[in-house]
Amino acid sequence: MKSLLDLVTLPHLVVAHRGASGIAPENTLTAIGLALEAGALMVEIDVQITTDDQVVVFHDPSLERTSNGHGEICRSSYEELKKLDAGAWFAERFRGEKIPLLADVFQLIRGKACINVEIKSPAPGEDWQKRIRLITAATTSAAMMPFTLFSSFHHDSLRYLNSLQLGFHTAALLPSGDQRLPSLVLQDTGCQAFVCSLRELTPELGADIAAHDIFTGVYTINTTQDAELALLRHARGLVTDFPERILAYLAAREK
Ligand code: G3P
Ligand code: MG
Repeated sequence: MKSLLDLVTLPHLVVAHRGASGIAPENTLTAIGLALEAGALMVEIDVQITTDDQVVVFHDPSLERTSNGHGEICRSSYEELKKLDAGAWFAERFRGEKIPLLADVFQLIRGKACINVEIKSPAPGEDWQKRIRLITAATTSAAMMPFTLFSSFHHDSLRYLNSLQLGFHTAALLPSGDQRLPSLVLQDTGCQAFVCSLRELTPELGADIAAHDIFTGVYTINTTQDAELALLRHARGLVTDFPERILAYLAAREK
């Protein structure tokens, strides 16, 4: 199994965004399983913490969009979340899909792919340092450290995580409106990789990425035209909702 250190030497890396979220409900075991079947070597997921300090895989701070629950996820216990359906909102055939624990995802992915765990920006007044300690502890106790990349738009979270010196690799997501070049963002955060949207990946950023040989991921690349543009601008990680499509495009391009 390739570790993160192997993956960053590849010319391109397809990262399945919230699993194969274009064809299955995001951040569920089914979406992640489909990404693995497609051959994605990295899966991106988002995590949240429950009232009983469990690390669960879920994008939004509130339950409504991607489950049949209501209210904020940080005010729910894992026992309550277990009763919810996280699949039917996407399509009826996914009814019965659950909100997974980070540990469930590690179990599914272990030996097959690396994982990009996105750490969300804090809610006002939240003890976000505790949240980071819970997430890193769950990762370390699953022995997933060599296979896990942490990313965040919240650079204080990344600086804190890096200061813990647990040996994790980290990627800085470019916050909206941040005009700095990737090399400066990495200098400021101490991260090893950089991630931005395709819209933000201007020729100027591409030149900086090439000049400093920065491993850069770009989201969300769902068409072959967007993949071509991302590669032209020196991105190597293509974050996509359709890993099968982008993998097929890269395979055909290499022929
Ligand atoms: O890593 C790219 C992407 O996941 C960042 O935004 O909202 O999809 O989690 P979001
Ligand atoms: Mg994310």
